[in-house]
Amino acid sequence: MISTSNNIKITEIETSRISEVDFNNLPFGKHFADYMFEMDYKDGAWQQATVVPFRNLSIHPATSALHYGQAIFEGLKATKNEADEILVFRPDMNAKRFNESAIRMCMQPVPEEMFLEGMRAVLKQNSAWVPSAEGQSLYIRPFMIATDEYVGIKASDNYKFLIICSPVGAYYSEPVKVKIEMEYTRAAEGGVGRAKAAGNYAASLYPAKKGLEEGYRQLIWTDAKTHTFIEEAGTMNVIFVIDDVIITPSEEKDTILKGITKRSVLEVARDWGYKVEERPIKVDEVIDAIKSNRLTDAFGAGTAATIAPISEIGYLGVDYKLPAVETRTFSNKLKEYINEYKLGLVEDKYNWIFRV
Ligand code: PLP
Ligand code: COI
Repeated sequence: MISTSNNIKITEIETSRISEVDFNNLPFGKHFADYMFEMDYKDGAWQQATVVPFRNLSIHPATSALHYGQAIFEGLKATKNEADEILVFRPDMNAKRFNESAIRMCMQPVPEEMFLEGMRAVLKQNSAWVPSAEGQSLYIRPFMIATDEYVGIKASDNYKFLIICSPVGAYYSEPVKVKIEMEYTRAAEGGVGRAKAAGNYAASLYPAKKGLEEGYRQLIWTDAKTHTFIEEAGTMNVIFVIDDVIITPSEEKDTILKGITKRSVLEVARDWGYKVEERPIKVDEVIDAIKSNRLTDAFGAGTAATIAPISEIGYLGVDYKLPAVETRTFSNKLKEYINEYKLGLVEDKYNWIFRV
């Protein structure tokens, strides 16, 4: 059956696949909800917005995204509150960042309202897939690919914007052992590190694989020129507590992602009366603080990762153990608060919750 809501054309599924999914045992990103959002850009305009049954795409082998990597994405999460309402955390920020990525990658921005209304429509159709259990959510993955059928190099004239949804559990099931990366580089100034561009993740896979072989679950990237300043991890921004001050690398340079979780954490921390510093952070400063017991907390912040405690930092062949997770007053309290916030269990005092 086909219907229209808010100018979005909806094609109903015949049967749901939801019974095939074991919600008691949810891996990250392997199951996909019944519906997806799809909208094409061609002839200089966005075409009919649609919500369609989740299905494979049929694309021409010369599709430009496949060859030259004009591809960007976002990641956000929906949960359900006790009244069965679907709540999404700060999607307006994702819509804005998506378009910043689009501009940097010379792609067609998606009107913010369409991003949000498309997300709302696909979530309504996928309502049964939004978990309400502790630690679970519906991960929402908006993405855009360049679809010119052409092997010359130029910015594409055609694009496809999609939103797919995946019910997920935790991305990191335990505290993360990280390695400070001193050889490879994720992003250089003037490059595309700030964009959520698919190629940034491809470029990180080889160094990440080497790190994994050495026993590190994630890398902490350092600046491309000197490898002396901390940037971010592969899937999350990093935050340290040293001498009771919350510190995190500043976003001034265009090498790190402007994380929405991090931004939210810093706002809450300031509100709780903590001193917060966003500034360049030398690797040596962190290592010295660990050695002199002045570092009391360290964690990653990201949509998929949530608040992920860092258990150990490997630097130049030495592994530095960080304080036991139970002793970490700030990140433990923060994790609980942010989780409750997303589930609508505490007052929405910052106006961060979008109701579907
Ligand atoms: N940094 C990178 C490289 C990421 O992939 C992510 C995840 O989205 C983050 C940081 C955290 O950003 P956010 O909190 O907006 O999810
Ligand atoms: C997210 O947290 O949404 C991300 O994009 C990280 C990821 C690569 C799973």
